Amino acid sequence: MAKTQIHRGKVKIGETVIRDPSFIFDVEGQDVFYKGQKVFYNEFYYILMDKPKGVLCATEDKNQTTVIDIIPEEMRRNGLAPVGRLDKDTTGLLVITDDGDFAHRCIAPSKKIGKTYIATLDGDLTEEMRQKFKEGIILADKTECKPAELEIIDRNVAKLTITEGKYHQIKRMFGTVGLGVNELRRISIGSFILPDDMKSGECRFLSAEDLAKFEQ
Ligand code: URA
Repeated sequence: MAKTQIHRGKVKIGETVIRDPSFIFDVEGQDVFYKGQKVFYNEFYYILMDKPKGVLCATEDKNQTTVIDIIPEEMRRNGLAPVGRLDKDTTGLLVITDDGDFAHRCIAPSKKIGKTYIATLDGDLTEEMRQKFKEGIILADKTECKPAELEIIDRNVAKLTITEGKYHQIKRMFGTVGLGVNELRRISIGSFILPDDMKSGECRFLSAEDLAKFEQ
């Protein structure tokens, strides 16, 4: 019976009609429709994307492809927006949601949620730099940054955790010690960790457990 209904195209997940009865219903975060009626509904969507290089972190743009444009159709709905901003050339973990309050909690500086990046620099890192980051970098325009944890992974590769999100913050922080950032990839925000097996541009729904852990 259910198989026949699926076969007849009566079941939709998000915007996509499912016709294959062997389809595995992993409906975490998705709305399911039967004959146009919602039978399973999520108030909000929470998506984790591995943001590719060259895609704009915005909801819409006249000329450039945005992160919203590359969300698969079946995971899309109105009101989705990226949480915080990554530069166009930055890759990695991006949360996209239509839950504005949640987005606010993620980026509020008072929450001091750690955001960790892997940065590849155009020069060598030193212990002195690590110390400076720990004490709090003062940017060229005199903006003070909160203490940041800099781990030297390789001569020119750093793992950096910051708890704020100032404009181009990491590039500007490294700028103060005379280093340019060649590559920047975000690997975590609080308890959200970019899975190793995610492909560039891939999107996954965050589970209720992921969200509960994050909010603890
Ligand atoms: N800091 C930057 O400079 N760029 C980003 O995309 C994120 C943090």
